[in-house]
Amino acid sequence: MKVGVLSGGGDAPGINAVIRAVVKKGIQNYGYEIIGIKDGWAGLVEGEYLSLDLKAASGILHRGGSILGTSRTNPFKRENGPERIIKNARKAGIGALVVIGGDDTLTVAQKMSELGLKCVGVPKTIDNDLAGTDYTFGFMTAVGVATEALDRLHTTAEAHHRVIILEVMGRYSGWIALEAGLAGGADVILIPEKPFDIDEVCESIRQRQRRGRNFSIVVVAEGAKPKGGVEIVYGESVDEFGHIRLGGVGYYLGREIEKCLNIETRVVILGHLQRGGSPTAFDRILATRFGIAAIDLVHQGKFDRMVAMKGNEIVSVPLKEVVGKRKPVDLKLYDIASLFFG
Ligand code: F6P
Repeated sequence: MKVGVLSGGGDAPGINAVIRAVVKKGIQNYGYEIIGIKDGWAGLVEGEYLSLDLKAASGILHRGGSILGTSRTNPFKRENGPERIIKNARKAGIGALVVIGGDDTLTVAQKMSELGLKCVGVPKTIDNDLAGTDYTFGFMTAVGVATEALDRLHTTAEAHHRVIILEVMGRYSGWIALEAGLAGGADVILIPEKPFDIDEVCESIRQRQRRGRNFSIVVVAEGAKPKGGVEIVYGESVDEFGHIRLGGVGYYLGREIEKCLNIETRVVILGHLQRGGSPTAFDRILATRFGIAAIDLVHQGKFDRMVAMKGNEIVSVPLKEVVGKRKPVDLKLYDIASLFFG
C-alpha cells in the first residue's frame, strides 16, 4: 500500500520525528511505500509530492520545522478543494493518509474521512490545546524556550528594577504561559482562560514592592484579554480557517502598568522563537511514539482516529470526538503557580 504523510498548520518541533517514525516502521515492518505531501492540504489539492524513502527520512530526528513544508490551506475554502483531494489521492495511489496537525488540519482530516479518504491524525501544536490528548509534541520545547527566556529576563529586570513582560503564544489556551511561568518563577501569569483585571495585576506588583522586591516578571499568553474586553490583534486579516492574527497584549499591559505604577516596564514578544529549532528529548520521544502508533493504526485498518497520549500510554481516539474542541489549562496547576504571585 502507498501511505501519504502531510503536516499542516503552524509548525511544531517534532514533526520530522513523526515522519521518520512513520517511514521507518511503514517501510521496514509493513512493506508500505510512503509518499510525502508538500505544504499540508495544499499539496493534495495541487498534487505535489515528494518520495519518502528510508534515506529521505534519516538524519531528521533532531531537526525542527517540517521536511514536507506546511501551510494553513483549508481545502474547503478552495474551489473544488475536497473533490480535487479525492481525485489526486486516487491518481497517486494513496491508500491511507497520516495527517500531522492541530485542530484545523485535523478537522479537515475528519471531514475528508467522511468523503472516503482514510486518515489517521497525529496531534501537533505548541499550544497544547488539542482535546483528547494530554500532550501534543512541540509544547515542551516551547515551554523550555520560554523558561530560558524568563531566566534571562529575570536577571536584567532585577538589575534595572523593572517590570518585564514576556508575551508567549497561546491563542485559546494558556498552557505555554502557565507552564513556563511556573518553571520560570513568574510573578503574574495571564492566560486566555482567566480574563484579567489590570488593577489586580498592578496590585500584585505593588505587593511585591512592599516586600522589597523592586522588579517583577509578568508572563502573558497572546490570547489573554482584559475582563469584559477582547483579544489584542496585530492586524485585521484572517487565515483560511478564520483565525485573526493575535499579538500585542504585552504592549497593552506594559502601558497600563507604567500608567498605574509609574515603574519602568519593558516588553518582550517571544513569537516564533518558541516554534523554531530542535525539539527537546521529550518531544522527540513523544513524536516518535505518535508516528509509530499512527502507522500501526494504518496497518490495523483503524481510520478516522487520532493517536493520543493518556497518562504515559499512547492510545487512539475518534477524530470526530476531538476536533472543534479545546483543552483548557489545568486550573489546579494555575492555583499552584498563583501561590507564588505577588
Ligand atoms: O500554532 C499555533 C500558534 O502557535 C498560535 O499560538 C499562534 O497564534 C499562531 O500559531 C501563529 O502562527 P503563524 O504566525 O504561523 O500564523
